[in-house]
Amino acid sequence: MIVTEVVPHSLAVADVSPGTGRDWLAEIYARAPGPYVRLNMVTTLTGSAAGPDGTSETLTSRVDRAILGVIRRDADVVVVGAQSVRAEGYVVPRAARLAVVTSTGDITGHRLDLEGDEPGRVLLVCPATKVDEVAERAASIGARVLGVQGSGDRMEPAAILAALAAEGMTRVVCEGGPSLSSQFIAAGVIDEYCVTTAPLIEPAQAPFVTVDAASRPDTEVAGMLVDEAGFSYLRLRPRA
Ligand SMILES: NC(=O)c1ccc[n+]([C@@H]2O[C@H](COP(=O)([O-])OP(=O)(O)OC[C@H]3O[C@@H](n4cnc5c(N)ncnc54)[C@H](OP(=O)(O)O)[C@@H]3O)[C@@H](O)[C@H]2O)c1
Repeated sequence: MIVTEVVPHSLAVADVSPGTGRDWLAEIYARAPGPYVRLNMVTTLTGSAAGPDGTSETLTSRVDRAILGVIRRDADVVVVGAQSVRAEGYVVPRAARLAVVTSTGDITGHRLDLEGDEPGRVLLVCPATKVDEVAERAASIGARVLGVQGSGDRMEPAAILAALAAEGMTRVVCEGGPSLSSQFIAAGVIDEYCVTTAPLIEPAQAPFVTVDAASRPDTEVAGMLVDEAGFSYLRLRPRA
């Protein structure tokens, strides 16, 4: 798992196999104290968010998973759309909480084994109007429901973030999928884009994020790693 830093152009090389260069990665991805909202996703060269199995599991790499772990450890909460949980199963992150954004509470197919876990580590975040409906489903897995006021049946990203912040979760990583992350981008709430590009040419049903001319973020490169398998790991930030 050899990784080279190309931006900034240190050309530092590290082996990030388990038990070795994880501190090096953690330093690169560490954020200063205080709130932030990161996006962390993987895409093919064609912009697909999913591989042949319909999930990102066939796009990711061992280095990508190491970076995911480092990013999650820096965060208070991982935010994900319910369809990603339904498609990918999703397991509870080791340290951060998991907030599943949903208007139905349907997390069929999840692998959120909450037995013996700290209660409330998984939250179903839903419109306040749907709390009762979602609570029934949450109870069956020992998850908590967080109702978001004032957005009707579709929650605004800012309202989701405000509800999480009110619970002390201000260091946020949004892991998609495309529908949720595109809303976060359009709302202008992302302050760092961590994007893994897999060296794959896959049919793309839809881009990993959708932006239009009005919501296109103006970004600059904050960092980039590459690995020996041809994956790149880019960090973009809003242009200063
Ligand atoms: N490449 C990557 O990094 C990556 C990451 C994650 C997922 N994926 C892939 O992406 C696909 C899933 O992505 P997706 O775009 O279809 O779905 P998604 O964004 O994961 O989830 C969409 C669902 O989230 C809920 N939701 C989203 N915005 C909402 C809002 N404003 N208010 C209330 N609920 C809201 C709704 O759930 P309800 O239907 O329950 O209301 C909606 O159906 C899968 O193929 C997955 O494998 C790829």
